[in-house]
Amino acid sequence: MKLTATTSQGLEEILAKELGDLGAQDIAIQKRAVEFSGDQSLLYRACYELRTAIRVLKPIEYFRVRHESGLYSKIKKIDWSEYMDVRDTLAIDGIAHSRFFKHSKYVALKTKDAIVDQFRERYAQRPNVNLHSPTLRINIRITEDKCTVSLDASGDSLHQRGYRRETLDAPINEVLAAGMILLSGWQKDCDFIDPMCGSGTLPIEAGMIAYNIPAQKYRRQAFGFQKWKDYDAELWAKLKKEADRNKSDFTHHIYGYDHDFKAIRISERNLMNTDLEGKIKFGRQKFEKFEPLADKGLILLNPPYEERLKTGAIEDLYSMIGDRLKNHFAGYEAWIISSNIDALKKIGLRPSRKITLFNGPLLCKFLKFEMYAGSKKNKT
Ligand SMILES: C[S@@+](CC[C@H](N)C(=O)[O-])C[C@H]1O[C@@H](n2cnc3c(N)ncnc32)[C@H](O)[C@@H]1O
Repeated sequence: MKLTATTSQGLEEILAKELGDLGAQDIAIQKRAVEFSGDQSLLYRACYELRTAIRVLKPIEYFRVRHESGLYSKIKKIDWSEYMDVRDTLAIDGIAHSRFFKHSKYVALKTKDAIVDQFRERYAQRPNVNLHSPTLRINIRITEDKCTVSLDASGDSLHQRGYRRETLDAPINEVLAAGMILLSGWQKDCDFIDPMCGSGTLPIEAGMIAYNIPAQKYRRQAFGFQKWKDYDAELWAKLKKEADRNKSDFTHHIYGYDHDFKAIRISERNLMNTDLEGKIKFGRQKFEKFEPLADKGLILLNPPYEERLKTGAIEDLYSMIGDRLKNHFAGYEAWIISSNIDALKKIGLRPSRKITLFNGPLLCKFLKFEMYAGSKKNKT
């Protein structure tokens, strides 16, 4: 069957690689999505194991449409009783990038009307809408006049991993955090350090990668596919058991630091929702005073951007980060994500890679810095 995994802009190639590793076929990269084909096992595994997917969709119908009446009648032609019963509930996510359909919410509303009317005409009863925990989540996407109707196999967005029950200001999305770690090319052959860890997302995602823990191991809500009519509970139990075997020979360390005591308390509490206690160390430390603990390591930094967090002296902070890296971290690789392009220039080191990513709506640069011994020659 044809399937689509959606993601955040800039993570498409990493997602395609994850899909290839799972055994997906016919992988085709799109903007913020990757199309692929696979069987039911792959669909279940994609929902459970992919770290950089936001949703996994199963398209059921494609058509061209330019008017709302055409949308209504084409949606009504689909036999919805194949997918849900009249007592089931539904939710519809509409996405429109089209000059014919300007409002995504309206697309969702028309789709809902068509489905509800089909049931009412057949059974004199209608299914209800439940936006939070529907039996069937339907995704309808219109690009110009091309419409794809899909069932959402993930249900709630896959960034909801289940471990992060508390956050501090400006937490990074879990999908983006995992994507940054995978983009960094970390081979798990050195320590991983997040010196500004906030609520601990990057170290916990790194821990899950290092110890081969499936991305959704701690998810609390059911996946969408578990409420489908063709749900194969036995197959799901078998696949989950296999994925949970998570053997790992990781021998290095994972650290998260922050100058805010509250951040460390929250990170530790989030860590308690995983099996990684004792495998990740959180501690209170100012980056100004931070000394390396080994000869080499990978540093991932998500500093304040001053878009959402107001620190006042944002450029001084970035300049301090650059000086600290240059003077104390020879042998290390550092990656920094920020939307504050002017502040990034204050780092004063030449990046060896630049990747564009989005943190929510914020366009960010994700920059790689390699600190060699005597890397002053890198200073711009
Ligand atoms: C954008 S938040 C990090 C969010 C985190 N990635 C998460 O998912 O929750 C930036 C963090 O940097 C910390 N920070 C700012 N300046 C710092 C410094 N000089 N040393 C250590 N931590 C610092 C803040 O306390 C804040 O928690």
